Amino acid sequence: MRTHRIAAMGGDGIGPEVVSAGVEVLKVCAERDGGFALEIRDFDWGSDYYRKHGVMMPPDGAEQLRAYDAILFGAVGAPDIPDHVTLWGLRLSICQPLDQYANVRPTRVLPGITSPLRHVSGPELDWVIVRENSEGEYSGVGGRAHRGLPIEVAQDVSVMTRAGVQRIMRYAFRLAQSRPRKLLTVVTKSNAQRHAMVMWDEIAAEVAAEFPDVSWDKMLVDAMTMRMVGKPGSLDTIVATNLHADILSDLAAALAGSVGIAPTANINPERDAPSMFEPIHGSAFDITGKGIANPIATFWTGAMMLEHLGEKAAADRLMKAVERVTADPSLHTPDLGGTATTRQVTEAVCAALRQAND
Ligand code: IPM
Ligand code: MG
Repeated sequence: MRTHRIAAMGGDGIGPEVVSAGVEVLKVCAERDGGFALEIRDFDWGSDYYRKHGVMMPPDGAEQLRAYDAILFGAVGAPDIPDHVTLWGLRLSICQPLDQYANVRPTRVLPGITSPLRHVSGPELDWVIVRENSEGEYSGVGGRAHRGLPIEVAQDVSVMTRAGVQRIMRYAFRLAQSRPRKLLTVVTKSNAQRHAMVMWDEIAAEVAAEFPDVSWDKMLVDAMTMRMVGKPGSLDTIVATNLHADILSDLAAALAGSVGIAPTANINPERDAPSMFEPIHGSAFDITGKGIANPIATFWTGAMMLEHLGEKAAADRLMKAVERVTADPSLHTPDLGGTATTRQVTEAVCAALRQAND
């Protein structure tokens, strides 16, 4: 029997609620499959840990996580601690040393979910956004001087490396190649940013030559927002810088019906360290503790995790169960306009998994 070791980290806000729902569903997936077992360990790192210890996680946190095959992550962010402290102290401190440089964000309109775009349903909106996850606008390079004085100066420097751009382009072209339409859109802003973004475009063209069977085009990020809304069916796989993809993926999630559904995977493609799987909705303090958080994003990200671990049959079974549940409006949580609770949705997905007859 194959055993996968999972680090489960709920983090802040609704994170622990959706991660415990996710763990419950993943255990049923393993039981139902019979070919693998999950060994899950909980980690209490996050803002509560910070209040007790003054740090979001132990200094060797990322090293401790290397012992696991994957990380299931909830959310990070607290109203009383600055966001840059919580984010850099936990999520980015895991992604960066574990070199999870490809952030993968699939978007589809699941059965039973209504897109705010008129006439758009499943087939017209089926995208995967590949977000550069290790450098660019999130490199952390920059500084402040003359603090508080009228001459105060602050800089955030976007850093792009040839190696960094090459590896994310190769990842995106390979992913586009694996999808039926073999279609990639490279998002850029090289009209205004005339150094790094021009190199980004050049490297895209170089890497494209390695993938002659993939059709690709280039879009300026501002025009890309219009194309996502106006011609969603013209897009399939999308690659963008760290910040551009951050923004476009929120738009994508909203167009697919709710940010409560959108999953993400922080992938280390070389597999020399574990990858991390998380819902993109964040900590959502307004609904924390109410039992109404939508666990679907965590289930979908759990399916991505199973696929990454080589459990494709279990991943497909989980997505089918999720789709059966979203198809029933009485099982929609409030973010989807319904009244269902986290518990009801979780139980319904577990029941659908147990009933699956494949
Ligand atoms: C995301 C989030 C984060 C990001 C926040 C929490 C800093 O918006 O994963 O998209 O910008 O990376
Ligand atoms: Mg975001």
